[in-house]
Amino acid sequence: MDHFHYKNGVYHAEGVALDALAKEVGTPFYCYSTATLMRHYKVFSGHFPEAKICYAVKANGNLAILKTLASLGCGADVVSEGEIRLALAAGMKPADMVFSGVGKTAGEMAFALEKNIFQFNVESEPELELLNDVALSKNTKARIAVRVNPDVDPKTHAKISTGHKESKFGVAMEHAMPVYRLASSLRGIEVQGVSVHIGSQLTNLEPFAQAFARVRAFVGELRAEGFAVKTLDFGGGLGIPYGQEEPPLPDAYAEIAKRETEGLGCRLIFEPGRVLVGNAGILVSRVIYVKKSESRIFIVVDAGMNDLIRPALYGAYHDIVHVAAPPGDAPTELADIVGPVCETGDIFAEQRLLKLPRPGDLLAFRSAGAYGAAMSSTYNARPLIAETMVNDNQYALVRPRQSYEELLGRDKLPGWLS
Ligand code: LLP
Repeated sequence: MDHFHYKNGVYHAEGVALDALAKEVGTPFYCYSTATLMRHYKVFSGHFPEAKICYAVKANGNLAILKTLASLGCGADVVSEGEIRLALAAGMKPADMVFSGVGKTAGEMAFALEKNIFQFNVESEPELELLNDVALSKNTKARIAVRVNPDVDPKTHAKISTGHKESKFGVAMEHAMPVYRLASSLRGIEVQGVSVHIGSQLTNLEPFAQAFARVRAFVGELRAEGFAVKTLDFGGGLGIPYGQEEPPLPDAYAEIAKRETEGLGCRLIFEPGRVLVGNAGILVSRVIYVKKSESRIFIVVDAGMNDLIRPALYGAYHDIVHVAAPPGDAPTELADIVGPVCETGDIFAEQRLLKLPRPGDLLAFRSAGAYGAAMSSTYNARPLIAETMVNDNQYALVRPRQSYEELLGRDKLPGWLS
C-alpha cells in the first residue's frame, strides 16, 4: 500500500498535488512519501520486534530517507565508507550497522572499525585476512559473520541474483567451514554469526525457505565444531509489486524466517532495501513530444535512462500514470515511452497501452523509490535531478537539482591546456 493517489483528477503524494509540485521544482523530479516509507518500515519491523533491521542504504541513500528511517530505530546495511558516512550523518548508530560487499578496502575497514560497527559480513578468505591485519593494527577485534552462498536459484532477474554457485558473492556453503576455522585462529577476528543474501526482487518464498533452511543446518554444523553463532543475517531481497506480480507479504516471509530460526537463540538481522523504499517513491516527468513514425508512437519525456536506469538495464517494468487525468476522449494507444538520451536502450516502456498524453503533460513512473535516484548519473551531461519528499501537506526539496555550474565545475584542466 502506498500514499500516491488521485484527488480531484490530479495525482497526489499524500496531501501534495504533483502538478503543483512540478511547477515549484521543475521536471523531472523524484518524490518520496514519508507516510509510505514509515508504513513499510513499521509493517516489516513489526514482524521482528527482536531483530535488527538494517536498511540497505544502496537502495536510496538520500539523507531525508535515512533520517526518517533512523527516527523509527532503523539501522543500516552499508557497502562502502560513503554509505557508513551517510548512515552516521542520518543519526543511525554504529551498533546497528552491518558492512556487506565483496570488495571492502583496508581504508574502509579501518573507518568501520574506528566507528565500531556491529558486524562485517565477510565474503572471502583474503578479505578475512586483511580485516584481521587492519583490526590488529588498531588493537581491536572485528566482529564478523561469513556470508555463505547456499546455491539456490532466487528466480529473479539474472543481474540481481546472488545466491547461486557462479555468483561472485559469498562463500560456497561447502567451503564455509574452513573459513570459520581460519577466522577463529585470527586474533583480530571475533566470529559472531552467519549471513546470507540470495538476490533482490524475489517474488516467491520458496528460495528464501531453501536458503534459510540450509543456513539453519549449517548453524548446527558450526555449533557442533564449537563455534558460537549469535547472529543470523538473512539479507534483503523481498520483492514489491511493480506491475501484476504478487510478491509474498512480509507476514509470510516473517513466518518462514521464524520457522527456520526457531530454538536457535540467534539475534536476527535483516537488510531490506526495496521493500521499504521502492513504492515510497515516484519519478515525475514531462512529455516533450509525441512523435509518430510509420510503425510506432513515441512519447518523448524529459527524464532519461540516466535518471532511472532500471528499464534500460534490467528490462524492468514501472507502472506509468498521468498526473492530471487525461480527457475522457483522449485516444488509448500503444506507445513507446522514451527518454532523450542518445541510446536505443533509453526506453521506459515499450508498446505500453495508455491514454495518449499531449506535449506538456506530466507522467509519473511509480515504484521508483528504490534504485532510482541511487543509480542515476549525469550521462549526456544531464544534471542530476531534484528529489523531493512530502509529509502530509508539506513538501521539501531533499536534493536540489544539480546546477550547470556544479556539473561543469567537476572537471579540472591539466596545466598544459589551461
Ligand atoms: N543486502 C545485500 C547484501 C544486498 O546486496 C542487497 C541488494 C540488499 C541487502 C538489499 O536488497 P533488496 O531488499 O533491496 O532487494 N539495482 C537493482 C537491485 C540491486 C540489489 C543489490 N543488492 C534493481 O534496481 O533492481
